[in-house]
Amino acid sequence: MPTEEYIVYTDGACSGNPGPGGWGAVIRHGDLEEEISGGEQLTTNQRMELRAAVEALKIIPAGDRVKLHSDSAYLVNCFNQGWIEKWQKNGWITSKGEPVQNRELWLQLLELSDKLEIEWVKVKGHSSDQLNQRCDQLARHAIPCDDGEGKNDKLQQEQMLATAKVGEVEIKESRRMGVLTGGGDCPGLNAVIRAVVKGAGYQYNYQVVGFNNGFKGLVENDGCVIDDYAVSGILNRGGTILGTSNRDNPFDYRPEGSDYNNTGEDRSADAIKNLKNRGIECLVVIGGDGSLLLAHRFSELGVPIIGIPKTIDNDLPATDVTFGFDSAVTTATEAIDKIHTTAESHHRVMVVEVMGRYAGWIALQAGMAGGGDIILIPELPFQYSCIVDKIMDRRSRGKKFSIIVVAEGAHPRGEEPLYKQKGSVKRLGGIGEQVSREIERLTGMESRATVLGHLQRGGSPTSYDRVLATRFGVKAAELFHEKKYNRMVCIRGNKIESATLAEAVIGTRRVDPESEQVKAAMAVGTSFGCPLN
Ligand code: F6P
Repeated sequence: MPTEEYIVYTDGACSGNPGPGGWGAVIRHGDLEEEISGGEQLTTNQRMELRAAVEALKIIPAGDRVKLHSDSAYLVNCFNQGWIEKWQKNGWITSKGEPVQNRELWLQLLELSDKLEIEWVKVKGHSSDQLNQRCDQLARHAIPCDDGEGKNDKLQQEQMLATAKVGEVEIKESRRMGVLTGGGDCPGLNAVIRAVVKGAGYQYNYQVVGFNNGFKGLVENDGCVIDDYAVSGILNRGGTILGTSNRDNPFDYRPEGSDYNNTGEDRSADAIKNLKNRGIECLVVIGGDGSLLLAHRFSELGVPIIGIPKTIDNDLPATDVTFGFDSAVTTATEAIDKIHTTAESHHRVMVVEVMGRYAGWIALQAGMAGGGDIILIPELPFQYSCIVDKIMDRRSRGKKFSIIVVAEGAHPRGEEPLYKQKGSVKRLGGIGEQVSREIERLTGMESRATVLGHLQRGGSPTSYDRVLATRFGVKAAELFHEKKYNRMVCIRGNKIESATLAEAVIGTRRVDPESEQVKAAMAVGTSFGCPLN
């Protein structure tokens, strides 16, 4: 496998010795470029140079090739002239007999250089090298100038946002937002990411940093700038280019491979530090109930958040619809259409188990669209006697088959939902098979169950979801522009609006058994397996 090549420029800046200092780095990989910077209070110039190199190299995957440019002869010579080996042999004492400063950073750098193939290149300080000048700007703007009461934060921010004139090149500093996708995947995630990046870039010239694999990437500082090139061609693609996880909670974090039944570590401070070091002003969380709850906790710790509601379950309060739902319903409806033919040909009772956890939206909508005879949802606990009555009634009218659409969280009256897995990670499942067996036993008719499972989360988003995702993403960019934080974008009626995060994380939006939609289903003869009809 050929290794990848990264071009890295680093620089440090220091206003006193020791004194407050900043560091900056630019990382280029093919067409992608990322800028990072940070600052420290009590430090030296050398320390900042080292920090810049360490922070930049941390971002690069192990095994790849790096050409690292620095204007610090000290740093470059340490590697190119073998000083480090000498220090190691001498017990970290310099040739002048003094202890080596910043040993923890040197050790980190050594560890990183073991994992990467680094070529150290000395560039001339204050030369016409544009990337070196750019790093110098990043480092100088990153100098902490807090007077202890946070009074200078604003000044620092303004400096960060100012248009900097560097040599002959005009460099526009841009505001930055982070974005991650959390929880189960669903169709439309890529469409949202694309809309956030394009909406923020085209309209306002803002930058977006994408974190990989949900909150895991935020904790591990695994992410990079995603530009319109990176999101080109993904509108119709299922899944998420950023990856996702519904296990990694920064407040209860476990390293990869550990047992999720054990308690983890609180790594929220690392997540916040990573946002700060990357100059990210606000985090956009594209997620369902679990991810939005985590986002809300971060907002309580002072991290500005914008939420975007995602889930095939359609169960989030504060929005009429979540993206992903329409695609899941379309997949389920197509499946019910296909199952109809076997049901009819074999005179069977066919049971289709769909997802939806605590809310019956997918079962209700797909059941209605696919002409299900019986729809079982968690909101209306069912009775087998009612299901049997409906099947027998159909038989008496010459319909020798029936279709039952059951939500995974549906359950008989007085019983709990069925779980395939309990404990800290719960997984529903099995109710379709149970209903099928029970109906066979009670009616003597042949019955089969089909579990649609993750088919509902896969594939291309429908046109409705693509449009909704695009509108949500653009609205998120607009909220960022207006600095309206700690809100979740939402749709009400056909209007894209926003709700407070607090509103968005309270409770679950479930099917109202008294709703017009349930009544419409009943009006055309659909049974909900309970005495309602
Ligand atoms: O919340 C979305 C969802 O697809 C539910 O409908 C389902 O119960 C759950 O996620 C499945 O999660 P996992 O992919 O972790 O099994």
